Amino acid sequence: MTAKSEEKSTFISALARAIESGAFVKLTLGKFRGQGEARKAVATLVDLKNGPHLKIVTSLARKDETKTLTINDGINHLKTTIGDSYLSATLFSTERDMTLTYSKKREPRLSTGKPTLKAAQPAAHDRSKSYLVAPDRPYLKALQVSDEEGRIKPSMQGKYRQICRFIEIVEGLLKEVGAGSGNTPLSIIDIGSGKGYLTFALYDHLTTALGRMCQMTGIEVRGDLVDLCNDLARKLDFSGLAFEAVEAQHTSQKRADVVIALHACDTATDDALALGIGAGAEMILGAPCCQHEIAPQINDTGEGFSGLIKYPLLKQRQADLVTDAARALLLEASGYKVKVIEFVSTEHTSKNILLAATKSANANRERAREQYRALKRATGFATHHLASQLKDVE
Ligand SMILES: C[S@@+](CC[C@H](N)C(=O)[O-])C[C@H]1O[C@@H](n2cnc3c(N)ncnc32)[C@H](O)[C@@H]1O
Repeated sequence: MTAKSEEKSTFISALARAIESGAFVKLTLGKFRGQGEARKAVATLVDLKNGPHLKIVTSLARKDETKTLTINDGINHLKTTIGDSYLSATLFSTERDMTLTYSKKREPRLSTGKPTLKAAQPAAHDRSKSYLVAPDRPYLKALQVSDEEGRIKPSMQGKYRQICRFIEIVEGLLKEVGAGSGNTPLSIIDIGSGKGYLTFALYDHLTTALGRMCQMTGIEVRGDLVDLCNDLARKLDFSGLAFEAVEAQHTSQKRADVVIALHACDTATDDALALGIGAGAEMILGAPCCQHEIAPQINDTGEGFSGLIKYPLLKQRQADLVTDAARALLLEASGYKVKVIEFVSTEHTSKNILLAATKSANANRERAREQYRALKRATGFATHHLASQLKDVE
């Protein structure tokens, strides 16, 4: 290997190691000497459904160009551009900064310095929200979201952003409704709690960051996950948090200030919403997951949807929206004010809607009932799992 390529090889190895260890923050490219207008570029990690990727954003005079590549392809792409189109590259990691620059004669020079950035930077749209949850919280380490040093693992960046966003939303809504204020503990039921990422996050935030008393139950049909979560709750001394292995519909939990169901499968979301309404919860949060009930029922009712529902993919998407609109209207008809908000960016998942319902004396229940019936007529569905559990909506 020539001396020239050694510097570059050291730089690229440092980049790969930083990504692997979770210390990578970003990489910047400057001193553009390639074809076309001047530009600079920044590479960061993004977590997609199929794992972490490198997002390389190139800034041109009038627009940005974004490439999202697998880690391997991203590193290979950077390898070919550094020292060719760009004569300067800086790797920012939580361990050190490393800069590789080339002279006019393309002589490389490698320098390292103390880290100027301390933590992996979340994507811009989530940046302001990520500090509500410290990455070194013990439950994040135990659930393998962060490593032993308290750094978010590259593959868990998406989950971490989801946790931060969720906590931000709940904190805002709790302030609005003043739920569980006073001396009684806030009671919360989480339906379909899975591995408990969001359950632990909420319990930890409420009791530790906000200093509130809290009695929280995770309902999960899978016994192995319930055992895992109960073990962790014990280890962390979370005395107000417990998990039950039971189907949502059959839980004995009937009272709650807050009911949440995040990505609970299919009609488990409806069971959770029905439970929340029945319990008179101040706040109900549902992020729907897969939906199978409405799509087969949607038909050509003469409302002009035939051109939409003849394509199976569009029919399913339409059915998802109809399902969630019906849920929102049924919540309103039950005395809740409902916001339909984006949970996480669609960049991470298409299942990103969150129904956020807060109890309100001002909900226009009759109008919501009428709108629900009109939606049924227009789209042709006959049964809705949530409606079947409520009185006076049909
Ligand atoms: C996609 S996971 C979501 C986990 C967690 N809420 C989150 O957002 O990270 C859905 C979980 O719901 C559970 N589940 C599905 N149907 C259920 C039901 N009827 N009752 C209780 N749990 C259910 C599944 O076993 C699974 O663990």
